[in-house]
Amino acid sequence: MSKTEVLRFKKKPSYNVAIMGATGAVGVEMMQILEERKFPIASLKLLASERSAGRKLRFAGKTYTVQLLTEDSFKGVDIVLASAGGSISKKFAAAVAKAGAVMIDNTSAFRMDPEVPLVIPEINASEIKNSGKKRIIANPNCSTIVALMALYPLHKAAGLARFNVATYQAASGAGAQAMEELRVQAGEILAGKKPTKKIFKHQIAFNVFSHNSSVGPEGYNEEEMKMIKETHKILGEKDIKVQVTCVRVPVFRAHSEAIYAKFEKAITPDQARKILAKAPGVKVVDKVGANYFPMPVDSAHQDDILVGRIRQDLFSKKTIGLFVSGDQIRKGAALNAVQIAEKLIGKK
Ligand code: A2P
Repeated sequence: MSKTEVLRFKKKPSYNVAIMGATGAVGVEMMQILEERKFPIASLKLLASERSAGRKLRFAGKTYTVQLLTEDSFKGVDIVLASAGGSISKKFAAAVAKAGAVMIDNTSAFRMDPEVPLVIPEINASEIKNSGKKRIIANPNCSTIVALMALYPLHKAAGLARFNVATYQAASGAGAQAMEELRVQAGEILAGKKPTKKIFKHQIAFNVFSHNSSVGPEGYNEEEMKMIKETHKILGEKDIKVQVTCVRVPVFRAHSEAIYAKFEKAITPDQARKILAKAPGVKVVDKVGANYFPMPVDSAHQDDILVGRIRQDLFSKKTIGLFVSGDQIRKGAALNAVQIAEKLIGKK
């Protein structure tokens, strides 16, 4: 963080919360997580576009009506959880700050802004206080969160020098409509029909393709560049070398990643397993005899990031391989945002 200004945020017994993009894949999960974790809510505003305004959604036993998102939506609001797309976050950020609220932004709009902290609470929760200038705290990219949840505890112990990662990313990262596209295409293909393509350029059911974001001049797509830049910002270390290949797979809601990590110091798989077993938000699934390792069917709908296939590089005592899987909508997005909100209000 180059310029920091300490956040002024008044602690209260309960808070007025707004969800921007409440009807989306992440918005719906945010509501569920707020309820599950008993976030102290005084009032809840569910905001979306005119497409969904008027829809009824249930929260904590009550029915709420989705309201149209406008500049006036934030009066009296303390915390805005934003997940309606980068352009919407950019458009409404000033109105949120003007209303005196804090925006926890799930989009990529402000992640690399030096005046906005980029936070994974298990790693750098202390950055939250530095959000005073813009009153925005950014939630990292889902693939970055999944990788760093596994790598950070090892980094603390042995010093991460570089990592190479190949992702196996679920449809959910592209939103609720992309998940629906996977479901519809699977049915169409099994029925011998041509798959309908609306969200992804390529067929998602029964296929694997290079991530749908555009490829830049260096040959890396936007998702890959996000993982590199966000790793440097979150860990506060620009010297860590990162090489990424991001790929979409026909999975509904959990991202998996094959990681090859090189450290400054030697580290054995047993040491890594012990460190990861104690790490918050991480679960070791490494049953070698049973050939049972992290899988998206297991990591979906759970908070922990699963880590396994922990093995030594046969040619380097400083390098280990890992296979990681985590729910993209939960820890990759909604849960991480709610955890930031919990830190903001000092909830234990
Ligand atoms: P809506 O239901 O009105 O389209 P996902 O990432 O799953 O596609 O969800 C995107 C979320 O962002 C949805 O809640 C969607 O609401 C909301 N959204 C998209 N565009 C706008 C907009 N222009 N104004 C307000 N909300 C929007």
